[in-house]
Amino acid sequence: MTIVAERSKVETATAPVLQVRNIETFYGPIMAIRGVSLEVRPGQIVTVLGANGAGKTTLLKTISGVMNPQKGEIIYRGADIAGMEPDRVVRAGIVHVPEGREVFPLLTVEENLRMGAYVRSDQEGVRRDQDMVYSYFPILAERRRQAAGTLSGGQQQMLAIGRGLMAAPRLMLLDEPSLGLSPLLVKEIFAIVRRLNREQGVTMMLVEQNAKVALEVADYGYVMELGRIVMADEAARLLQSKDIQEFYLGVQGDTQRGQKRWKQKKTWR
Ligand SMILES: Nc1ncnc2c1ncn2[C@@H]1O[C@H](COP(=O)(O)OP(=O)(O)OP(=O)(O)O)[C@@H](O)[C@H]1O
Ligand SMILES: [Mg+2]
Repeated sequence: MTIVAERSKVETATAPVLQVRNIETFYGPIMAIRGVSLEVRPGQIVTVLGANGAGKTTLLKTISGVMNPQKGEIIYRGADIAGMEPDRVVRAGIVHVPEGREVFPLLTVEENLRMGAYVRSDQEGVRRDQDMVYSYFPILAERRRQAAGTLSGGQQQMLAIGRGLMAAPRLMLLDEPSLGLSPLLVKEIFAIVRRLNREQGVTMMLVEQNAKVALEVADYGYVMELGRIVMADEAARLLQSKDIQEFYLGVQGDTQRGQKRWKQKKTWR
């Protein structure tokens, strides 16, 4: 193979699976996303951090087609999907696991999983993926006939992720999976997210307020504030960044007098 061919092969392999280019999304007159650009490469876990109201959920809704951007492009595997209907986005391989783990409470665990596969017709593959989900989340196998509404919060989060996996996604959008869970459970779920990424090859976009756990699992991170991206870097570098440590991780900073104190909350500019 020539060097040029070799290089173009490498470039194809690392071409972004998703490129968001300068999108703007509104709620009526309110601009919630103010010109956001980012990219996600195949096999990566990319995290989007930000405080309440930063626009993280709106960003994911815009990618999954639940909301339409008024400006910008969302290039997924080479085609612009901005404004595409949500079910077509799912068929194209992007699954959105929403904030607040919205499972169907009256359906059983297994029925919820099956709902995740509604876009698929390969029954064989659906069965295989159901077994795969049960192998990652054994508690769901144990509770397969139980109504989802009776599961604990952590188990419901596992079910929400499992249901997303049932659509056989190439790219999974996870909205604050750590919300309301104990630190131990968050660790457990993030370890599984990491394994799914490595072992099943699911590329992940992970929205979080919990910067530490998200950066520990992610390859790359963006920080959002007031509808904009204000910082972007390798996750390991963001973890080391003073601003991130002070603002999101609650690490103590020095004062002029040399005494330690909790840094006052500041905003990114
Ligand atoms: N349905 C809505 N109607 C009007 N404004 C909304 C609506 N949903 C969100 N917003 C506003 O859009 C902005 C972004 O909200 P969004 O839910 O995307 O933030 P977020 O980063 O996900 O916050 P959180 O971490 O609290 O989930 C906020 O100012 C919010 O008040
Ligand atoms: Mg949100």
